This record gives sequence, structure tokens and C-alpha cells, in this order.
Amino acid sequence: MKKIIIANWKLNSNIDFIKNYIKKINKINFNNNKYEISIAPPIIYLYLINKLIKNKFNTTSQNIDIHLSGAFTGETSGWMLKDINTKYVIIGHSERRKYHKENNKLILKKIIISKKSNLIPIICIGENEKEYLNNESIKTCKLQINCLIKNNEQILDNTIIAYEPIWAIGTNKTADLKHIIKIHKFIKKHLKKNNSKIKIIYGGSININNAKNIIQNEEIQGLLIGSSSLDINNFINIINSINEI
Ligand code: PGA
Repeated sequence: MKKIIIANWKLNSNIDFIKNYIKKINKINFNNNKYEISIAPPIIYLYLINKLIKNKFNTTSQNIDIHLSGAFTGETSGWMLKDINTKYVIIGHSERRKYHKENNKLILKKIIISKKSNLIPIICIGENEKEYLNNESIKTCKLQINCLIKNNEQILDNTIIAYEPIWAIGTNKTADLKHIIKIHKFIKKHLKKNNSKIKIIYGGSININNAKNIIQNEEIQGLLIGSSSLDINNFINIINSINEI
């Protein structure tokens, strides 16, 4: 199974940034039998990036609405994202849970509508610092997953689960490998899945110093990279470092 590297730009970039970024990234060589690289820009730039980027890359939306069309001012639907060739959609990111009050009920609706639109959901779960310190990481992840699978065990088939401990996002405090592996193994066991149906990836302060060490573990099938993906030279260095494996 290919491992996936996703560059989550969050609310950053502009046209000049994109032209420079895509020009540089289009030139890199990586083992695309082994890795898939996806760019997650702000939604407004997806169309442009899908036009500029070479075939060996693809794109990820940072959000999706729960409706496909209609009177829902300000929203973007799965049909539209698919119409412009987007492949993945991030759902349940802790920043959306926190700043936009997205709860598990809404997250489930977004997963369902993504699948209906033939987009692959990347579903973020993870504990906060207090839960981590209280040794409740598994408990929190289990609860978040159970809210999604309670009426349909299959709903998470053919999706990506991103384990992103909240305390590790944007803090330079990467979770240690042992902890990440423990949670990844738990998720796999809890969902009783073989590797082909669900990818489990890690996100949270990935950088040039830790990417290789984390991705080379067989339990970890990808990385969701925020701030370290914003500087194109930095992101290319990360890709080159893991390409050596
Ligand atoms: P970070 O963000 O790499 O800046 O910690 C990761 C994410 O939020 O997806």
C-alpha cells in the first residue's frame, strides 16, 4: 500500500506563493510506487492547483459542506470538489472542532457526503494534552471513532484516519514513536481492519528531523504535515529524506 504525504496549508498562501511552490514541486522526483503526495490548499485555490500540478500529485480539500447543492450560502459541496478533480477531503480537524464547533454528528454527515461525492475522507482524531497526560489517549480516540461507527461499522472503510494529538499540532512537540505506534495499533484493532481498507496516518509537528523516523514504521501509512509544508524547500527536503528509505 502506498504511503501518503499531505501538505496542509491551512489558511495560508496566495497566487504568487502557489506559482513558486508548484513550479518547484513539479520538478521533484520521488518514488510514486511507494508514496502519494497531496496538497491541501485553501479551497479557493484548489482549481488552480489542480490545473498546475503534474499527474503524480493530487489535491485534498480542507473542508466540505454536508449538502450537495441548494440554498447554503458560503459553502462548497462534494460535487464541486470532485468536479475540479479533488481526491481527498480533511474532516474533523481539531481546528474545525475547536473554532467552528464541529462535533462528531456533523463530522459523520461530512464523511457520508464525501463518500457520496466519490471523495476520500481523511478523518482526524486525537486527544488533548490533559487527556494525554492522564493516559487517556486511547479512551478519547475510541470515543471519537465509536461516535462515527455506531450505526454502520463500514462507514470508515476506504477512508484515511489521521491520528493527530491536539497537543502536538503546531507546537513542535511531536508525539514519540512508541506512543504513535500504540495508538495506530489500537485504531487498527478496534476497527478490525486489514491494511487494505483503511490507512492510518500521523500528524502533529512533523519536520525534517522526525519525518523519516516516523514514516519508516510499517504501522504508519502517511503523514499530515502543517507548518513544515509551507516552506517549499523545507517540504522538498522532507520528501527527499523519506524517499531514501
Ligand atoms: P503541524 O500541523 O504540522 O503544523 O503541527 C498538522 C496539522 O494540523 O495537520
